[in-house]
Amino acid sequence: MNLRNQLKSSSAQSHARLDRELSDFGPFTDPTRYRIFLNLMLKLHQRCGSSLAYVESEIELPSRNRSLEDLIRSDLLTLVHDESEARDLRDDPRSGASTKSAETMWGEAYVMEGSAMGGKMMYRQAESLLPQEFGRDYLRQLSFDAGKRWKAFVVALESETSGLDNGQVIAAAQNLFDDAYSIFQTLKSSDSIESSS
Ligand code: HEM
Repeated sequence: MNLRNQLKSSSAQSHARLDRELSDFGPFTDPTRYRIFLNLMLKLHQRCGSSLAYVESEIELPSRNRSLEDLIRSDLLTLVHDESEARDLRDDPRSGASTKSAETMWGEAYVMEGSAMGGKMMYRQAESLLPQEFGRDYLRQLSFDAGKRWKAFVVALESETSGLDNGQVIAAAQNLFDDAYSIFQTLKSSDSIESSS
């Protein structure tokens, strides 16, 4: 089995769990839920920014004018409650040089590039459910180019990782899925929202 299929089958359950949680949560049914969804994606991008940058420097991917992290921040700015929250979003310090292994960076990039695949559907839902004043540039961008990037990413995943330890790439992807799930639970409980409500 090639690495992509190994990643896909080993993370199928984690993906289904996260997908189900997010779908049941209804991220576009009110501004608080939308903010929690965007904060989840921001935290994942902050954690994996160096992995995405590494993979982008190794292979040709359709480029974006603005990073997804920037787009998430600007969407969040349309939802913040007060000026100090807005300042935190504008002033976030960039993390330093990465000490992650190539295996970890490919595993994380797999999860992050893959996370864009639900973008078209989510953008459609956001368009029909969210009031106009809330920004949705992040989802619009995913809906526009996720498919093209994914095709290029999957090809590169096979051609560029031949010297790597597949088990470590898979473990990194699994860790990130597990962390995404925990971060989502923490964000929900800190905003006093339960998925069942
Ligand atoms: C409501 C939320 C989500 C929906 C509806 C969704 C939906 C999808 C869909 C439709 C695909 C394409 C499947 C295919 O063509 O075979 C996909 C792939 C993927 N998604 Fe999600 N997704 C969601 C959330 C996430 C999140 C939060 C992550 C990670 C943080 C994630 C990671 C992935 C990965 C890694 C793939 C690629 C799997 C592969 O084909 O190798 N997804 N998702």
